[in-house]
Amino acid sequence: MNNTSSLIQLVRRTRPSRLLLSTLVLFTLFSSVLGLLVPLQTKKLLEELGENGHFSNEQVVILIMVLVFSAVLAGLMTYIMGKIGNEQKLKLRGDLFQHLIRLPVSFFDNTRAGEPANRIVKDTEIIENLVSEQSVSFISGVVSLFGSFIILWFLDWQMTLVMLGAVTASFLIILPFSVRLTELSKSLQDTEASMLGRLTELFANIRLLRAQGAEKIEAKKNNNELKSLYKTAMSEHTLLATMGALVNLVIMASIVLVLGFGASRVANGAMTLGAFVAFIMFLLNIVLPMGQLSMVVAAFNKAKGAAVRINEILATTPENESGHTISLTDKSIYVRNLSFSYADDKPVFKSLNCEFLSGKTTAIVGPSGVGKSTLFALLQGFYQARRGYIEIAGLNVEELDRANLRAQIGYVAQESPLLCGTLYENLVYGAYEAIDDEQLQHAIATADLAEFIATLPDGLNTQIGERGITLSGGQRQRVALARALLKDPALLLLDEATASLDSQSEAAIQIALKNAKKGRTTIIAAHRLSTVMDADNIIVINKGEIESQGDHQYLMQHSSLYQSLVNKQFNLQAAS
Ligand SMILES: Nc1ncnc2c1ncn2[C@@H]1O[C@H](COP(=O)(O)OP(=O)(O)O)[C@@H](O)[C@H]1O
Ligand SMILES: [Mg+2]
Repeated sequence: MNNTSSLIQLVRRTRPSRLLLSTLVLFTLFSSVLGLLVPLQTKKLLEELGENGHFSNEQVVILIMVLVFSAVLAGLMTYIMGKIGNEQKLKLRGDLFQHLIRLPVSFFDNTRAGEPANRIVKDTEIIENLVSEQSVSFISGVVSLFGSFIILWFLDWQMTLVMLGAVTASFLIILPFSVRLTELSKSLQDTEASMLGRLTELFANIRLLRAQGAEKIEAKKNNNELKSLYKTAMSEHTLLATMGALVNLVIMASIVLVLGFGASRVANGAMTLGAFVAFIMFLLNIVLPMGQLSMVVAAFNKAKGAAVRINEILATTPENESGHTISLTDKSIYVRNLSFSYADDKPVFKSLNCEFLSGKTTAIVGPSGVGKSTLFALLQGFYQARRGYIEIAGLNVEELDRANLRAQIGYVAQESPLLCGTLYENLVYGAYEAIDDEQLQHAIATADLAEFIATLPDGLNTQIGERGITLSGGQRQRVALARALLKDPALLLLDEATASLDSQSEAAIQIALKNAKKGRTTIIAAHRLSTVMDADNIIVINKGEIESQGDHQYLMQHSSLYQSLVNKQFNLQAAS
C-alpha cells in the first residue's frame, strides 16, 4: 500500500461526520464565491466613482456585507475543520490505545519503550494538524486560485497570460526545493522519534546510568544526536531561507511586471482603473494561496509518514480474544511434547513433558535462563508453542479464552511492578469483581502487609510511585502477592517471587504461602531451594529438558544437578 492510500484509509477509518463535511463543503463554496465577489465589487465601486465622482451608498453597503459574511464564514470553517480534526484525533488515539493493549506481548518484546506512546500522542497530532489546519487552506486556496484565474481570464486575458508565465516560473523554481524539504523533514522526524525512545528508556533506568557512571558516555551520545538533529534542522532552514528569498524575488518581480503592464494598459485606455485594481486583488488571491499550498504539501507529506506508522500498528493482529471458557478449579495441567523458542535458532524447550496436579504444589528448579519464566508466560497464553501444547481440562491453552484464563491465574513475578496511584489502587488493579473489605483484609494479612500499612501516613490511600513513597523490594513483592491473592486464583504462579526478600520476610511469606496455597494449584519457580523443599513435586529442568523430578528426598539421592544447586546455596549461606 502506498503512503497516500495509507493516509486515506486512516482518515476513512475515523468516519468524519457527514453533516459536518457537507456543511463545510457548502460553506467553502459560499465563502470562495464571496471572496471572488470582493474584487469585483471593488471594481464596480471604483468604476462608479469614475463616472459619478462619488461612491454609491448602496454599493458600499453591499461590499461591507460581503466582507463581514466572508469573515464569519471563514471563522465557521476554521471551527468546523477543527472539530472534524479533533474528533478524528480522539477516535484515532482511542483506537490505537485499544489496539495496542490487545497486541501479543511478543510485539512489545521487539518495540522500543517510547514508541507506542509516540504513535498515540505525536503521530495522531500530525494527522489532526493536516485536517484541522491545513485542509481549510487547501480547499479555499484551490478554489480561490482557480476561481481567480477564470475571472481574470474574462477580465483581461492578455494580462492573465503575463501573470500565468510569472506564476509558472516561480512554481518551477520552488519545486526542487520542496522535494528536498520533504526529505529533510522526514529524516528530522525519524531522528526525533528515535531520540524520544532513547530518552524514555534512559530516564526509566537512571539508577543504572548513575551506578555505572555512564554520564559522560550518555552525554556524548546525546550530544552527537543533538548535533545531527541541529545539522538537519539547519539544512532545512537554509533551504527555507533560500527558497523564501527566491520566492520573494519572483513574486515581487511578477507583481512589478504585471503592474507595469497593467499601468500601461490603463494609461492608453485599454483597461479601466477599477478593472486594474480588481486585477491586483485577484493577483493576491493567487499569490497568497500558493504560499499556503506549499505548507499544505509539507503537512501532507508528514501526515503520510504518520499514517504509515499508525497503520502498521493497526495492521498487527491482536491476541485472539475468543476461545473456550473453562474453570481451572480442580484441573490438572499437562505439558505435552512442548517445544518453544523466541528466535528460530535458539530453542528454550525441546519436547517438554510434565504435569502440574490440581491442588498440589509443584516446583520448577533449574539454573537461570533455563526457561522457568518462559513456561509461566506460556501457561498464561502470552506466546504460542512451536510444537506440542499445554493441556488444561482436555483443551490446548491456546484455544482458551485468554481473559477468562488469566482471570483465574495469580502471577507474581520476580520484580513486581507498581503503578502510580494509591496502595489500594495497586492492590485491586484490574479487579475482576468488586472486592469487598473482608477479602482485602484477608489478602493483606496473608501477604503479611498489615504491619507495613499501619506505618503509612494514609494507610491504604497512601500514594505510591513518582509522587508518593517508594517501596522496598520486599514490600513490593508482598503487595504483588496480595494483588495475586485478591483474584482468589485457582492457579497460583510464583516466579522466584521471594528471591529478593531477606530470609526473615521470606520465612514470614513461606508461612503465608502455605495458607495461600490451600485449595489451589501452585507452581513455584525458584533457584533458591529453601522455598521449594516442601513442594509435592520438584521438576529439575536443564538445557531445555527435564533432568529429573520427585520430592526433595528423592532428588537429593538421584539428581546431581539438584544436589549441586542445594550445595551451592548452603555454601552461600555458610559464607554469609
Ligand atoms: N522476551 C524474550 N525474547 C527473547 N528471548 C527471551 C525472552 N525472554 C527470555 N528469553 C530467553 O529465553 C531463555 C529463558 O529465559 P527465562 O524463561 O527468563 O529463564 P529463567 O526464568 O529460567 O531464568 C533465556 O535464554 C532468555 O535469554
Ligand atoms: Mg525467570
